[in-house]
Amino acid sequence: MKTRILLCGACGKMGGNVLTLLKDDNEAVAVCGVDLYPKHLDVPVYTQFADVQEEVDVIIDFSSPVGLIDRLEYAKTHQIGIVLASTGFTDADLKTVEMYSKEIAIFKTANLSLGVNLMQALCKTAAEVLGEAFDVEIIERHHNLKKDAPSGTALMLAQSINQAFDGQKRIVNGRDGIVGAREKTEIGMHAVRGGTIVGEHEVMFAGEDEIITITHSARSKRVFATGAIRAAKFLKGKPAGMYEMKDLLSEE
Ligand SMILES: NC(=O)c1ccc[n+]([C@@H]2O[C@H](COP(=O)([O-])OP(=O)(O)OC[C@H]3O[C@@H](n4cnc5c(N)ncnc54)[C@H](O)[C@@H]3O)[C@@H](O)[C@H]2O)c1
Repeated sequence: MKTRILLCGACGKMGGNVLTLLKDDNEAVAVCGVDLYPKHLDVPVYTQFADVQEEVDVIIDFSSPVGLIDRLEYAKTHQIGIVLASTGFTDADLKTVEMYSKEIAIFKTANLSLGVNLMQALCKTAAEVLGEAFDVEIIERHHNLKKDAPSGTALMLAQSINQAFDGQKRIVNGRDGIVGAREKTEIGMHAVRGGTIVGEHEVMFAGEDEIITITHSARSKRVFATGAIRAAKFLKGKPAGMYEMKDLLSEE
């Protein structure tokens, strides 16, 4: 039987991409959506989870951090998994997610593209090899409608790099004024916003007389929609716990 998907944020840009891909998918189908600002779509769209009538196997969430508990509660009540693809969660939100993962299967990643997940591994390896001799700066570029900064992906990359330094580095967002010489403990973070840029991440390792950059450029939002659908299929029937891209990739 096809994986029946509830799409939270169905009327947004990512929601639209997921719905388009699901039309031609032999293994998964969108059964309904939840969106604060519903539009007429091919599937019913509700403004709240309490109104959902359909049988659902997995939720894909491409909305916002607002209303997180409603999504998690619905998943818990119906004992289904949830792919949390929204970004911009607070530390308190993340603690809530961790708590719910003891009762439901939660797939969470700030970036659902295969390329970025490879980039994450490459950056960690680079940091391990290059060590303290190279300064790490992350530059991310997104469209002018993006609400959160720095991007969830940039933070995810910083976290992976920091693992190579036993968590001793700290993120310094932008620089302004007389900030003094750069400290070795810094990971510089720079958020650029403009036009319709889908998403670009550049990690620069700057050493003495040489620079290494690792970059990823998403050319359409479809890569994320494809990843979310793969994650939903992977999550169906999984036991409670936290899952991420590397779990999906190792199973596939
Ligand atoms: N993990 C990834 O790979 C990845 C990739 C792209 C986007 N994102 C994230 O996905 C989210 C959505 O991105 P988008 O470009 O589609 O944004 P968007 O603004 O185009 O769409 C968001 C949709 O969600 C709805 N919404 C907002 N809050 C809601 C709530 N509490 N309940 C129900 N619906 C709600 C809005 O009405 C809108 O239709 C953002 O957080 C973005 O950063 C993640």
